[in-house]
Amino acid sequence: KVIHLKDYQAPEYLIDETHLTFELYEDRTLVHAQLVMRRNPAAGSGLPPLELHGQDLELVSLSLNDRELGLGDYQLGESTLTLQPDSAEFTLDSSVVIRPESNTALEGLYKSGSMFCTQCEAEGFRKITWYLDRPDVMSKFTTTVSAEQHAYPILLSNGNPIASGSEDDGRHWATWEDPFKKPAYLFALVAGDLWCVEDSFTTMSGREVALRIYVEPENIDKCQHAMDSLKKSMKWDEEAYGREYDLDIFMIVAVNDFNMGAMENKGLNIFNSSAVLARAETATDAAHQRVEAIVAHEYFHNWSGNRVTCRDWFQLSLKEGFTVFRDAQFSSDMNSATVKRIEDVAYLRTHQFAEDAGPMAHSVRPESFIEISNFYTLTVYEKGAEVVRMIQTLLGAEGFRKGSDLYFERHDGQAVTVDDFVKAMEDANGVDLAQFKRWYSQSGTPRLVVSEQYDPQAQSYSLTFRQSCPPTPGQPNKEPFVIPVALGLLDANGAEIALRLQGEDAASGTTRVLAVSEAEQTFTFVDVPERPLPSLLRGFSAPVKLEFPYSRDQLMFLMQHDSDGFNRWEAGQQLSVQVLQELIGQYQRGEPLVMDERLTEALRSLLQNETLDAAMVAEMLSLPSEAYLTEISEVADVDAIHAAREFARRELGNGLFEPLYQRYMTNREVSRQTAYEASAEHFARRALQNIALAYLMFSERSDILSLCLDQFDNADNMTERLSALASLINSPFEEKRAKALETFAEHFKDNPLVMDQWFSVQAASPLPGGLERVQALMLHPAFTLKNPNKVRALIGAFANQNLVNFHRADGSGYRFLADQVITLNALNPQIASRLLAPLTRWRKYDSARQALMKGELERILASGELSSDVYEVVSKSLA
Ligand code: ARG
Ligand code: ZN
Repeated sequence: KVIHLKDYQAPEYLIDETHLTFELYEDRTLVHAQLVMRRNPAAGSGLPPLELHGQDLELVSLSLNDRELGLGDYQLGESTLTLQPDSAEFTLDSSVVIRPESNTALEGLYKSGSMFCTQCEAEGFRKITWYLDRPDVMSKFTTTVSAEQHAYPILLSNGNPIASGSEDDGRHWATWEDPFKKPAYLFALVAGDLWCVEDSFTTMSGREVALRIYVEPENIDKCQHAMDSLKKSMKWDEEAYGREYDLDIFMIVAVNDFNMGAMENKGLNIFNSSAVLARAETATDAAHQRVEAIVAHEYFHNWSGNRVTCRDWFQLSLKEGFTVFRDAQFSSDMNSATVKRIEDVAYLRTHQFAEDAGPMAHSVRPESFIEISNFYTLTVYEKGAEVVRMIQTLLGAEGFRKGSDLYFERHDGQAVTVDDFVKAMEDANGVDLAQFKRWYSQSGTPRLVVSEQYDPQAQSYSLTFRQSCPPTPGQPNKEPFVIPVALGLLDANGAEIALRLQGEDAASGTTRVLAVSEAEQTFTFVDVPERPLPSLLRGFSAPVKLEFPYSRDQLMFLMQHDSDGFNRWEAGQQLSVQVLQELIGQYQRGEPLVMDERLTEALRSLLQNETLDAAMVAEMLSLPSEAYLTEISEVADVDAIHAAREFARRELGNGLFEPLYQRYMTNREVSRQTAYEASAEHFARRALQNIALAYLMFSERSDILSLCLDQFDNADNMTERLSALASLINSPFEEKRAKALETFAEHFKDNPLVMDQWFSVQAASPLPGGLERVQALMLHPAFTLKNPNKVRALIGAFANQNLVNFHRADGSGYRFLADQVITLNALNPQIASRLLAPLTRWRKYDSARQALMKGELERILASGELSSDVYEVVSKSLA
């Protein structure tokens, strides 16, 4: 069934109060709900039937205003319960039985190991009790949880604890009250044998907030980094947005089985343990940064999501795009802003651009869906964040802050739309963003072709922008976007030219933002004494594909001189892309591969410059990924891409051996002598050290192998150890490979998050026989299809990062993935549907592979009863 945005109607009834009682048992859970309801005065007159949502509920009893209802008093539909209220205000009581112990979909109330926990967003609350499970129905919740005391000493829900007690039969209970009205998707419950790390935070108005992170006892030593991140987030949101926390307690719970990263339930965030637990010995630098970002993201939702929530699920980006933007700002402030931007842009261009070019392409505010879980996408999250970022670029930081202040003030306690957000930005700044809003309604990645004209007589320099956007499903034609293009002009010495647009009295600034709003538009700069070199789309000021005919020498010049750090990296990437595409062509024509040495020389001068930020040097040494090279290909030749990129890496490793060796030795020595710190400076040093090691290993020299083995054996942190392992297992030293994998697994077998890393490095290894290795690993005792992290670590890493093996010409990789999707469809539809994504990209490949991929999609479609999640993705991909 397709749901359309245009069909939105206000709810017929409201729920002012929700009183829940959970009786948790090993073989069933009883849920009693008392709903204090009334007719919604804004939805018309009369008393229409009341239709509640529910799924997999065994109804025990139902009463209306204390009158028990019989079979004739209500109708049970497939996932609805309908009854006729007889007054505008009434109380509805229901009791149901649910089965969390056999809930493998991890949606609603379920068990993760021995603990009970919930995941209600988007529509999981209907698996808990009969309800109006839609975000514009906001209610005050009181929740009582009762369970056996010994196995479940900790009983948590949203808000503040108000009462608790024990019974004679070994059970106990606790009651929680959340004073803030909220939609059901923000409900949470946790029961288990948990330990907690405690701290406190004093808010800007001087209120003391208790902070608690609950984990299973063995993880109690891995919470400090998350706690530090939480305190930084609380402080940052006060300073950057004026947002203060509003309850007396803020809790985070780590669970091992979780479909996504984490969830912002009011006062009780529930996290995938991979997004909370971090310490040097077991988590990489990347994992530490991910924990910091996700803790911040969920915390920031308290305002952008909870205090102001979404009217309906088409507005998901209202909270997600904005909150991703906020967490990115936070991460840039905590670490290197340029490196954060580089990572985000690389991710967006590789994965969101691919989504925008595929059969599931949708706008940031989608028009329709079959299953809302399928729309927690890169487009809604990452492109949504880019759209918010463009608003900030257009309004300036101060204007943006005025807009966000107005938004929070105007809509506190409401469920609103993307239009309301933009309206607040417009009203606070006296601007019109009507055309800009096309970013919310049009899907697809715009293309922006730029050409230049220099007139030496007039000393004027013109840039002409031509924008277009390819058709996407349901959207054959697009209207022009408003594209903010931040740019600067460099003279022959690499100095920035002061920018004066024709018609202006004087020059102002060396970076300016041009708002390109027409299909074709020319901007002319005057007082330009020589032909300049443009630095375009600085900081990636808009999510577009920019085209400008830079020569390789010009790119090398920008790499050295651009004042914008992001664009220095971008110039290096474009140079690498040109060099790699040349190698891909040579490979396809059967010619010997010969690499343009200018790339080696450009990277050499970076490596030799000790004054540059090590993190930037590491980023610039990283060649564009195979996935990105695939995305920018018309037809992706998997084997050629892999061969070309590996050849280039080997050339660089050998060509730059001396400076790489020197940087490696220096940094490894510092690592040896310094205690681990999760700080930007340490991240930078280890990043450079480890990419240097990976390149050096191409030499296949035994002294380098010894260095790698020493780092693997003796490092005091997972970043160094895992990098060494990854370098080793892609090396030709077969014996050492096997030995290292074995020692690692033996050492970390009891830590599931570390074992995930172990599965991933192997799943991503491009050596021949990848599929067989993955199939063998599925039989490993640490692997299970029931844990989403394991599925992602092994099967996900194989299909998304091991392109040569996954796309093997005989189609065995596709068949394997389809088999897993079919199994998971019955177990966990959300995970099954996400795992499918690589097969939906069939249009990118040659016709033989296309046929094989489509064949597997068809096989899934015919495999029996499909969840709405899998059905939507498969059917749209074949349409
Ligand atoms: N709101 C969560 C976040 O912070 C994600 C929840 C996703 N849930 C889902 N069923 N897809 O982004
Ligand atoms: Zn979010």
